[in-house]
Amino acid sequence: MSKQPIGIFDSGVGGTSIWKEIHSLMPNENTIYLSDSINAPYGPKGKDAIIKLSIKNTEYLLNKNCKLIVVACNTATTNAIDYLRSNYAIPFIGIEPAIKPAALQTKTDAIGILATKGTLSSELFSKTSNLFARNVEVIEQIGNGIVELIENGKLHSEEMKSLLKIYLQPMIEAHIDYLVLGCTHYPYLIPILLELLPKHVRIIDSGEAVARQTKAVLEKHNLINLKSLNSKNDFFTNGNPEVIKSLLGNTFNIEYLDF
Ligand code: DGL
Repeated sequence: MSKQPIGIFDSGVGGTSIWKEIHSLMPNENTIYLSDSINAPYGPKGKDAIIKLSIKNTEYLLNKNCKLIVVACNTATTNAIDYLRSNYAIPFIGIEPAIKPAALQTKTDAIGILATKGTLSSELFSKTSNLFARNVEVIEQIGNGIVELIENGKLHSEEMKSLLKIYLQPMIEAHIDYLVLGCTHYPYLIPILLELLPKHVRIIDSGEAVARQTKAVLEKHNLINLKSLNSKNDFFTNGNPEVIKSLLGNTFNIEYLDF
């Protein structure tokens, strides 16, 4: 069973930022990445719709014989992971905004969080926020339009820069010293964010932690692939494969799939 692939899905291309962390930590592992770009963004959809789409992605990956599934999407995790865990037998790893380390380390007592509407309005997010960030000011910002621009290959556009300037302004005015990225598309924004934010602001995302957690769970279940030397990494998207190529390069097999 250990040679079976790790399945990874996201509402679009953003979860490739998580795939990179997983692949760099466990280069032996075979992986299948599913980008549901045609339905992106998930953020403005309601909980039921997000659960439905998460089931569709999960079923696809289970048919491909995945041994574990990484829900590489904050919006799908915060809305659907409980459902997935109670209805399927394999392990699921999710991703949530890393609000805890930011709240523990802030010196200005103000932190920013950029995430989707679906994540910020989820029960799971308010629970975590109440638990760990009650004593700090949390400036929440919905990243309307960011996912769409990335999905349309406009990561490095003037439009993106103008949007980010607007979203960061209230955080800068509140003197945040940590910015939490609560969407797997957003790590691709880091070079632009660093340009726009004051130098002392630290950016936190959860990618590395998710990769470590994936490894720990594989070990616990004796599912680590000790054998394959050249891992097989397949990417499927129901959107434009060129967008994933622009993020990952041409080394990998990136296919259009009507799912
Ligand atoms: N990458 C997804 C996330 O982490 C994007 C959400 C969306 O499609 O709106 O939340």
